[in-house]
Amino acid sequence: MSIQKAKFMKSAVSVKDCLAHRYPEYAFIGRSNVGKSSLINALTNQKELARTSAKPGKTQIINSFQINNDWFLVDLPGYGYTVTGKSDLEGFNEMILQYIERRDNLNHLFVLVDSRHKPLSQDVEFMAWLSRHEIPFSIIFTKADKLSKAQAQKAVQVYKKVLSEYIADLPEHFVTSAISKMGKEEIVEFIEKLNKEF
Ligand code: GTP
Ligand code: MG
Repeated sequence: MSIQKAKFMKSAVSVKDCLAHRYPEYAFIGRSNVGKSSLINALTNQKELARTSAKPGKTQIINSFQINNDWFLVDLPGYGYTVTGKSDLEGFNEMILQYIERRDNLNHLFVLVDSRHKPLSQDVEFMAWLSRHEIPFSIIFTKADKLSKAQAQKAVQVYKKVLSEYIADLPEHFVTSAISKMGKEEIVEFIEKLNKEF
């Protein structure tokens, strides 16, 4: 599959406000500034489909994009930035958690982590929470252009080791760069496979 068309559809302020449609959705989530919006632009070959910023907290709403007329990419707000204190996961706002738990169209969640950072407890706890809630997800390591191939491999190894202490079945992972477009083909192929199962 190649991405031929990508169109901004809606900015939603809650899961109830999300567009009603019958297509599979793939949401990108992760700490502020990890590169969610940049990767959506890289995947769709567009410069400014999703707004990016060097300042954390740019995306504060649920932005959805229709791809090739038959599936959706969703850019979620970054976590670790707005702390509501209301949810059991600190730093996650209710809106994000409700989207994840209640959005019927959500076919798979991609959790983005910066490949240069050691596993952060917030990310690991979130993945453990996803696993307990049986939400299908995989990990995307971002900004791999800032590391050598060996360093990136090592980072993945370290991550898997830490994660294995919390999760029995380790998720699929992708090593990516929005700049070099590394990992793009793999993600698109993976989504193509998941689309067929929806
Ligand atoms: P929020 O919307 O605030 O949660 O951030 P985000 O996760 O959407 O991050 P965004 O895509 O806005 O990128 C944050 C910063 O990281 C920007 O300065 C990007 O240019 C930079 N960046 C994103 N992806 C990459 C990458 O693959 N490589 C490098 N070197 N920089 C990147
Ligand atoms: Mg963003």
